[in-house]
Amino acid sequence: MEKLHINLDEKSYDIFIERGIFEEVGKYISKFYKKKKIVVVTDTNVDSLYGDMLLKNLENSGYVPSKVVFDAGEENKNFDTLTKVYEKIIDSGIKRGDLLIAFGGGVVGDLAGFAASTIYRGMDFIQIPTTLLAQVDSSVGGKVAVDTTRGKNLVGSFYQPKMVIIDPELLKTLDEREVRSGMAEVIKYGAIYDNEFFNYLLEKEDLKSSMEDIEKIIKRCCEIKAKIVEVDELDLGLRMILNFGHTLGHAIEKYYDYTKYTHGEAISIGMYEITILGEKLGITKTGESKKIKEILKKYELPIEDKVNLGDLIEIMKSDKKNISGILNFIFLSEIGKVEVKKVAEEEIGNKLLK
Ligand SMILES: NC(=O)c1ccc[n+]([C@@H]2O[C@H](COP(=O)([O-])OP(=O)(O)OC[C@H]3O[C@@H](n4cnc5c(N)ncnc54)[C@H](O)[C@@H]3O)[C@@H](O)[C@H]2O)c1
Repeated sequence: MEKLHINLDEKSYDIFIERGIFEEVGKYISKFYKKKKIVVVTDTNVDSLYGDMLLKNLENSGYVPSKVVFDAGEENKNFDTLTKVYEKIIDSGIKRGDLLIAFGGGVVGDLAGFAASTIYRGMDFIQIPTTLLAQVDSSVGGKVAVDTTRGKNLVGSFYQPKMVIIDPELLKTLDEREVRSGMAEVIKYGAIYDNEFFNYLLEKEDLKSSMEDIEKIIKRCCEIKAKIVEVDELDLGLRMILNFGHTLGHAIEKYYDYTKYTHGEAISIGMYEITILGEKLGITKTGESKKIKEILKKYELPIEDKVNLGDLIEIMKSDKKNISGILNFIFLSEIGKVEVKKVAEEEIGNKLLK
């Protein structure tokens, strides 16, 4: 069993990672939650696979659980769903001092976490992430949000869970494409922070052999994320390095209206393209793009798309991370180290198309 602690003073919490831990979830929750009522918020896919198991497990630990289920998919991470989730929580008799469990991928974690942060002016919640992306990234760090018609994640808050319980066994039912997409975020951690971890992933034979060691891999990712979040909980500085590949990646996702690529696939293209660019601009050590290409190919992730950079620039200018006309581009100086370059909106074209 791997246990990590995120140190954020009174908002500190533990992350438990273990194969099969899901079957003992009630026992872990009882370490800190002594009341009876729990509301589980999940999506239709996760519910049909694991909903009953979770409820039974909570009942066996003496809890009185209820369940709120919404339709799976990013298109439902919106205010309509949120309103329904609020209403169902209230109707099920859940009060402010009770507990909410966000049980699912990043969509559930973000929406249910945002519901927890706002309903009754905030109630305690825990994360039980069920996709690789959620297990290595979105369930840790307290960013919660919903999408609006004007863009993704535009309304949200920073709201830390009380505990994160990660069971890699749950990934067995996940679509292989989703697992590969999660690997793009895993690779990102190695690229921005840990050369040794990057090489470890590079030396793996294929996805299958990485999945055999997935507990260890998830732990390393959570450790890196924890270190970054502890320094910069509110995303005012260091946390921006987690956006390596994301500025371009988000633009690619948006260009195709979120239909062609998963988030991880778009980030994969973004990481490769920004590394090529970094080499051209003399920021990134020559040869690093070759390594990025090799590792992404190993995990069968895309590295290129025919869309031209010029078309992406307009989209990047409207990125929500564009603060007062300045965008931060995260370049690798070498594998394991990053360099942040601030580029003014009007300069983006000149700099990137050089
Ligand atoms: N808060 C953060 O820090 C943060 C970071 C990165 C991404 N995100 C957000 O995460 C979201 C993407 O998350 P995601 O990739 O997990 O997508 P997702 O939650 O939509 O899950 C992908 C699909 O897998 C299904 N699923 C989930 N677990 C399963 C399991 N164990 N077995 C079978 N099917 C399962 C889901 O129902 C869904 O259809 C985006 O909305 C993104 O904005 C948030």
